[in-house]
Amino acid sequence: MGFRLKTEISFREDIPERIAAIRDKKVWIVCDGFLNGNPLLEKYRKALSIANRVEVYSDIVPDPPLTKVIAGIRVFKQVRPDVILAIGGGSAIDTAKLINYFAHGLGYNRETRFIAMPTTSGTGSEVTAFAVVTDTETNTKIPVNDAVIAPDEAWLDEDFVMNCPKKVTGASGMDALTHALEAMVARGANHFTDGIADKAACNVFHFLEECYGDAPSREARIRVHTGSCIAGIAFQNAGLGISHALSHQLGSEFHLAHGLANAILLPEVIKYNSKDAAAAAKYAHFARIMFFAPRECTDAEGAEALVREVRRLAANVGCGQKLHELGIEQEKYIAAIPTIIKKAQKDFTYPGNPIEPEVEDLVRILLAIY
Ligand SMILES: NC(=O)c1ccc[n+]([C@@H]2O[C@H](COP(=O)([O-])OP(=O)(O)OC[C@H]3O[C@@H](n4cnc5c(N)ncnc54)[C@H](O)[C@@H]3O)[C@@H](O)[C@H]2O)c1
Ligand SMILES: [Fe+2]
Repeated sequence: MGFRLKTEISFREDIPERIAAIRDKKVWIVCDGFLNGNPLLEKYRKALSIANRVEVYSDIVPDPPLTKVIAGIRVFKQVRPDVILAIGGGSAIDTAKLINYFAHGLGYNRETRFIAMPTTSGTGSEVTAFAVVTDTETNTKIPVNDAVIAPDEAWLDEDFVMNCPKKVTGASGMDALTHALEAMVARGANHFTDGIADKAACNVFHFLEECYGDAPSREARIRVHTGSCIAGIAFQNAGLGISHALSHQLGSEFHLAHGLANAILLPEVIKYNSKDAAAAAKYAHFARIMFFAPRECTDAEGAEALVREVRRLAANVGCGQKLHELGIEQEKYIAAIPTIIKKAQKDFTYPGNPIEPEVEDLVRILLAIY
């Protein structure tokens, strides 16, 4: 599979220079609704307006439905931007990616430069070639996966996450951790992805709780923000697994936040994947370097220690619930299990899992998280 990164990444201190290099262009800022009237958005709009024509579009909702993408393509056709600056959580960046992708396919633009600026520390969408859209008629999350979707640039300005609400911080941080730990053992993993998956998971384990607390430091926010981006690069190259295959279905069937669904599934999936000796060895290696388990522990003990730590972290960032505690009715849930499994088996993340599960294995995991 090799290792590839199309996206050029800039940090907060590099961004003014990046902005200065954009001149005489039509810049279309596609941003999350929460940014309406936000001083940070204004700062970027003004800076870009000095040498460019800038328009702002913010008709975005979480877990973007097809209808919002289609509406956005119509606006794109009028604006015909040279540069798209997508600012927001994974939902906003994915919406902008899809608008750009389909508008390009329809021949509405020349070369549009696509820049993504995340306001959550979780999805890694700023560096991935995926975007997820929801078909609200069939309650299905549809991934669009094409190398050209990956942003040309990612601008990481932690100012956007400094005041991110606790609920969003906790869930998106657990999404980043799931990306890292699934990429660590995924079928496409290699020495490059192993190294960065370790780094991304380490950043989240060390700093997510502080970010979830009342007065997180800038350093903690930077660590989780960059960790999330690194995890995106890891999974883009290595693949994901059944936490994501199942969480996409839980999200669309029961409207659970993506990161929360992953947080609930991840410990059970690590337990299950530890049956694979190579996966258990990788989990245990990570548990040892994080001091979750002693150096002399067996791989099984190391993997168990990792499960324990994932549960502890999830609980401490508001993501430690079972599904029944989230108001999902038992009867409805049990009835939905066959559909969840059928859709999960077709999910693009499913083949990345280190073991191909039997249906009974998936049922066991789904019952354990209820
Ligand atoms: N493309 C990818 O590679 C990829 C990877 C994982 C997940 N996803 C998708 O991303 C979506 C989830 O994205 P997410 O977890 O970033 O959440 P989100 O984008 O859905 O945002 C959640 C809520 O938080 C708000 N919000 C975002 N940033 C904020 C901030 N700084 N301050 C205050 N409010 C803020 C949003 O307006 C929204 O209401 C899902 O649709 C998921 O399927 C995509
Ligand atoms: Fe994810």
